Amino acid sequence: MSVKEEVENILMKDPAARSRAEVFLCYPGFHAILFYRVAHRLWQTKNKGLRIAARSFSQLGRFLTGIEIHPGAKIGSRLFIDHGLGVVIGETADIGDDCVLYQGVTLGAQAAARMGALSRDTKRHPTLGNSVVVGSGAQILGGFTVGNNVQVASGSILLKEVPDDCIVVGVPGRVIFREGVRVSDPVPDIEAEAIKCLRDKLAKLEKQVDRIQAVPIFEPTTTGVKRPSHSGKVVHIGHAPVSVNSSSDAVDIFLHGAGI
Ligand SMILES: CC(C)(COP(=O)(O)OP(=O)(O)OC[C@H]1O[C@@H](n2cnc3c(N)ncnc32)[C@H](O)[C@@H]1OP(=O)(O)O)[C@@H](O)C(=O)NCCC(=O)NCCS
Repeated sequence: MSVKEEVENILMKDPAARSRAEVFLCYPGFHAILFYRVAHRLWQTKNKGLRIAARSFSQLGRFLTGIEIHPGAKIGSRLFIDHGLGVVIGETADIGDDCVLYQGVTLGAQAAARMGALSRDTKRHPTLGNSVVVGSGAQILGGFTVGNNVQVASGSILLKEVPDDCIVVGVPGRVIFREGVRVSDPVPDIEAEAIKCLRDKLAKLEKQVDRIQAVPIFEPTTTGVKRPSHSGKVVHIGHAPVSVNSSSDAVDIFLHGAGI
């Protein structure tokens, strides 16, 4: 792809891009692809010296853009890396045409494939099909294939292959839509569920404490006869329930935000 085509691609895909000059000057994703194209050419020569040059050039690109693309990775046409800071694309990753990656995406290897020299030249990083969108902060780890038209939700951690036309969500990532049909519910918000559980328990405990406090307290006397304390008045220790109103309001707001 020519530089002009790379610019046109971003102009078409990003509503925030208003002119070719803006893309040329202000898009680290564009700069990173240019660095990659040169570094990849050098890498393909298989010449040891030129490969070091390729790695060095790639590192310069990383320094300037915050996007790390190993020169050995294979990238198809019209990749758009939006914002891009923190994107890492590993050596054996393979990206199809028309893909979009947002900031913080990793196309990386799983621990089992990181056995130093033993795993060199093995497929350790994912293959993305065409028109794949990977949301911000998503991690795709392993040498498996993610099919065409797959969308990986931001923040997901995808550890196994995905067929075409799916939406993947969660940690670990799982398919919630396939070919437009819902196949499972999104992963529940575990933290919110745990907080809801604690809030329910607290409410139960409050009721129990209220009941206990409502019982009159009798004090022993020297004659052994018990009488109500405080000159015959029944004592309730704290008539009002233990108030957690302000914190419980905050919990309600939090749970509402989590859809619970
Ligand atoms: C995955 C994604 C592409 C799906 O988009 P979509 O087709 O419009 O679908 P929706 O947003 O309706 O989401 C479908 C379901 O997944 C859930 N979902 C979406 N993204 C999610 C996420 N990151 N984590 C958990 N659940 C998520 C939604 O709540 C929704 O569930 P529901 O149907 O029960 O309400 C989109 O959510 C996404 O993450 N895009 C990347 C955006 C991004 O990274 N932007 C950065 C810009 S700087």
